[in-house]
Amino acid sequence: MCGIFAYLNYLTPKKRAEILELLVNGLKRLEYRGYDSAGVAVDTADDKDIAIIKKAGKVALLEEEIKNRSSELNMDGSTDIHCGIAHTRWATHGVPNEVNCHPLRSDPHNGFVLVHNGIITNYKEVKVFLEKKGYKFESETDTEVIVKLIHHFYQKHPSYSFRELVESVVQQLEGAFALCFKSKFFPGECVATRRGSPLLVGIKTATRLATDHIPILYSKEDHPTSPINKDADSNSEHRPYGRADYPTLPRTGSTSEFEPLEDKQVEYFFASDASAIIEHTNRVIYFEDDDVAAVKNGSLSIHRIRRGGDDPHKREITTLKMELQQIMKGNYDFFMQKEIFEQPDSVINTMRGRVNFETGNVVLGGIKDYIPEIKRCRRLMLIGCGTSYHSAIATRQLLEELTELPVMVELASDFLDRTTPVFRDDVCFFISQSGETADTLMALRYCKERGALIVGITNTVGSSICRESHCGVHINAGPEIGVASTKAYTSQFISLVMFALVMSEDRLSLRKRREDIINGLRNLQDQIRQVLKLDDKVKVLAGDLYKKKSLLIMGRGFNFATCLEGALKVKELTYMHSEGIMAGELKHGPLALIDEAMPVMMIIMRDPVYVKCMNALQQVTARDGKPIIICEEGDKETLAYGYKTLEIPKTVDCLQGILTVIPMQLLSFHIAVLKGCNVDCPRNLAKSVTVE
Ligand code: M6R
Repeated sequence: MCGIFAYLNYLTPKKRAEILELLVNGLKRLEYRGYDSAGVAVDTADDKDIAIIKKAGKVALLEEEIKNRSSELNMDGSTDIHCGIAHTRWATHGVPNEVNCHPLRSDPHNGFVLVHNGIITNYKEVKVFLEKKGYKFESETDTEVIVKLIHHFYQKHPSYSFRELVESVVQQLEGAFALCFKSKFFPGECVATRRGSPLLVGIKTATRLATDHIPILYSKEDHPTSPINKDADSNSEHRPYGRADYPTLPRTGSTSEFEPLEDKQVEYFFASDASAIIEHTNRVIYFEDDDVAAVKNGSLSIHRIRRGGDDPHKREITTLKMELQQIMKGNYDFFMQKEIFEQPDSVINTMRGRVNFETGNVVLGGIKDYIPEIKRCRRLMLIGCGTSYHSAIATRQLLEELTELPVMVELASDFLDRTTPVFRDDVCFFISQSGETADTLMALRYCKERGALIVGITNTVGSSICRESHCGVHINAGPEIGVASTKAYTSQFISLVMFALVMSEDRLSLRKRREDIINGLRNLQDQIRQVLKLDDKVKVLAGDLYKKKSLLIMGRGFNFATCLEGALKVKELTYMHSEGIMAGELKHGPLALIDEAMPVMMIIMRDPVYVKCMNALQQVTARDGKPIIICEEGDKETLAYGYKTLEIPKTVDCLQGILTVIPMQLLSFHIAVLKGCNVDCPRNLAKSVTVE
């Protein structure tokens, strides 16, 4: 997914080389999100113009291009006040080439330049409007309409501030966006805004900040009409491109609109996520939808277009707890590999301070006050996408068992397509590693509007899902950089198990079951370590499989989710076809695929569906299938078949999926390496899917 990074230094001397290095490093930190081109915009050597440098492909190529243009950019020249913007683009409208790459410009003289994350859904209408005004478009992107529109407003209203121009523009946009603007008409200023896509700013000052929040400034309602309405007053093309429902922008024009920070020497870092900022400062503000943040004369102000009654009146400055080390690869070759091997620790971090193994008490601080309400609900709905959705499938059976409530598991996109009925007495869980997945966020808003209680299960503190939920559980897995989700899955799984335990704490009839599960949780760390020791064996299996075209993964009961998750990992990392098959469905179709050549994996644990799984095994072997079996350590009956096996330590049935998924993570990783695929950034995919 696109990544935004911008850097503004105010009364803080920096060489151009330093500024460019900072921008490029910011982009490198965002590389994991997935992208196919990258670019930066900085002031030209004489400070009078803007230089845009763009490159299709990796950030390393952009870095090379900057070196090639170093004499033109006057790398040794120093500047006290400067704003640079940078971007990694994940193509949605138009191929990944240099023209479509961001920053995009308003005109051949680079009056305004812009980086954008998200999708503008009404761009065609805006484009028609601007073309009528004589604007010529050079890219195939939706973004270009935004930067041309601000230029149009600037020409019509030269007295407007940079922020007012941006506010005028965003009123006309539909869709999801985070935007960061730079302009040669407003040197040393930066304006950023968001609606539906994440954006935050890091603030670095020489001395400690004198404030822990930035006040929100609202436009007064008795102010003059909006730039757009002014347009309309003198122009019959009143609101030619939509958003009729969006409120009119009143102008403030007041001199008190910028609340200065005490320390004048200041640096600002705007970014799509905190990983690009943490090496510079841990003091950040997460923007809310429709915030318009402007830096002018070194001071940051946040404005909102008034839309309703209950907006808070300030944005807190949050102190990030994340360490740079946490987002580095360490001794591993790939982030994904590191994250798989982090699981013995990440599962402990998920349970830390929540599960008391001595007393059997489980407390989830983030939802504790809501438990009585949850216990009275009509049903639980678990909603997510991809891997997060699989964590819901993995835990549904236990939730049904321990809560005795109906549990619906939903893919966010399908849930919205169906306009599913939701009621005030529903409790809806939104599961998302990033906390920014557009489909999940839309589903959350849909359920919230209908009065349901919203519970977020996320890994990203400060993310949109986390902020918009009534309550929730941080899974505390630590930053997950690899596009393929691994440790987040096992931590989501455990978070939902802990929720089931909380819901059943006063049920005497379930005491033994709860004790078994809590014991299972206690042993997980050691057992995961044991499973990770299978790495070499899994690598050998990967060698047998990496040239095959397809891989079927079969199982049922508590391990069905492992089949789906394993197949998703294989698909996304190795580009090989793979399918997770419910073993109970074999006779209803998939059995036709089986012959001696079809690669098959089967998950057969000694749990309540063991006999049924053995039955499926016979159906496969009777058709000359030669499955690789993930089975329970020492299970003689299964081992007697003589097929290739991976033996997994036994845990309580409902936790077994945490252990069986790890060989699948390792297998997909090794196949991807053998095939020469990009492990951390598989083709066509992004870490955080902030578009629908
Ligand atoms: O950030 P989220 O958990 O909401 O992301 C949902 C999916 O996009 C994500 O799990 C995706 O399926 C993973 N890349 C799979 O490894």
